[in-house]
Amino acid sequence: MFLRSLSLQNFRNYEKADFNFAKDTAIIVGPNTSGKTNFAESIFYLATGRGSKAEKDADLIRFSQNLARLSGVLEDKTELSVVVCREESDTRETIRKKYLVNGVFKRRVDFAGNFACVIFSPEDLDIIIGGPNLRRRLLDNLLEQVDRDYRNATIVYTKALRQRNALLDRVRESGVRNEKLFEYWDDLLINNAAVITKKREEFVQFINDFSKEIFDFIVFYDKSIVSSARLLQYRQAEVGAGVTLVGPHRDDVSFSMFNNTRQTTHDIKSFGSRGQQRLTILQMKIIELSFIEKIIGQKPILILDDIFSELDSGHIKLVLDMLSNQQSIVTTTHKEFIDSKILKNADVIELSK
Ligand SMILES: Nc1ncnc2c1ncn2[C@@H]1O[C@H](COP(=O)(O)OP(=O)(O)O)[C@@H](O)[C@H]1O
Ligand SMILES: [Mg+2]
Repeated sequence: MFLRSLSLQNFRNYEKADFNFAKDTAIIVGPNTSGKTNFAESIFYLATGRGSKAEKDADLIRFSQNLARLSGVLEDKTELSVVVCREESDTRETIRKKYLVNGVFKRRVDFAGNFACVIFSPEDLDIIIGGPNLRRRLLDNLLEQVDRDYRNATIVYTKALRQRNALLDRVRESGVRNEKLFEYWDDLLINNAAVITKKREEFVQFINDFSKEIFDFIVFYDKSIVSSARLLQYRQAEVGAGVTLVGPHRDDVSFSMFNNTRQTTHDIKSFGSRGQQRLTILQMKIIELSFIEKIIGQKPILILDDIFSELDSGHIKLVLDMLSNQQSIVTTTHKEFIDSKILKNADVIELSK
């Protein structure tokens, strides 16, 4: 699937900007803070209806404006738009998001999935060494793009979790627990968690079965199961904590490399060099591209956001080798990072500061 044009209005630092992608590769050149990452993020937004990182919807709207609009047109002429608007009343500010496909309003679960993308940015290195929330986001960012059931499950699960945590908070304060109130949310939590866990498990299996040419590793899925029995087991602790202590929102995955004989494994977070951590992420990106293509039968768009200053020449070559397989959008501070053969066949777009 190809994205042919992108139009941003009051999105982050963009007041109004239009981009056309005629060729398979586009190179976006701009100095720091010119909006390269915001640009990359806008494409993820059109694919999923949400950001790839934790952020407030209000932050998407250009400072001192009230309405942001992102639109994109795909190869088959499908037009996707997201409108984010700030509505202020006397008491508070609410942010509303609207999703449109060819001008028709959709819920997010139905808006997402018209095309898919994989972003590779320097912050991705934190996935290995950072907190578990980053690794859960890696799973969600991928699975939400390719699987409507997964999207639906995460949306319902997140809502049920919020409601249930609010109930627990009240129990903590009042000391009274009304079982009837919990039943509904517990069921929602358990049923949707089962979908999320199963699909995460399938992706982990895909990673482990993948033949890894750049760097070999194995992923362990540390899943937090939520069932009636587990909720009962954690009942007291939950009231103390005021939050739900089990479920996929507490999942983690870890990446381990092998010793020479492939007999023992070592956590890359603790034992991998910085270089090995980079190779792990690079390999993961190739796996993500391949997983998406397998599930939706189409190649996703590859977006490389300003990664060249982070990588040595060997790694840069590996990354540039990935470009020719699908639509690719590359942002960089300096054109010189990019091979002249690639530049010659690419749309080059300069961002001004
Ligand atoms: N809501 C917003 N309104 C206006 N400017 C914003 C908003 N959000 C971020 N920015 C600005 O966007 C710029 C950063 O853009 P970014 O895409 O990270 O640049 P780059 O990746 O090219 O270094 C910063 O100057 C930041 O202040
Ligand atoms: Mg950036």
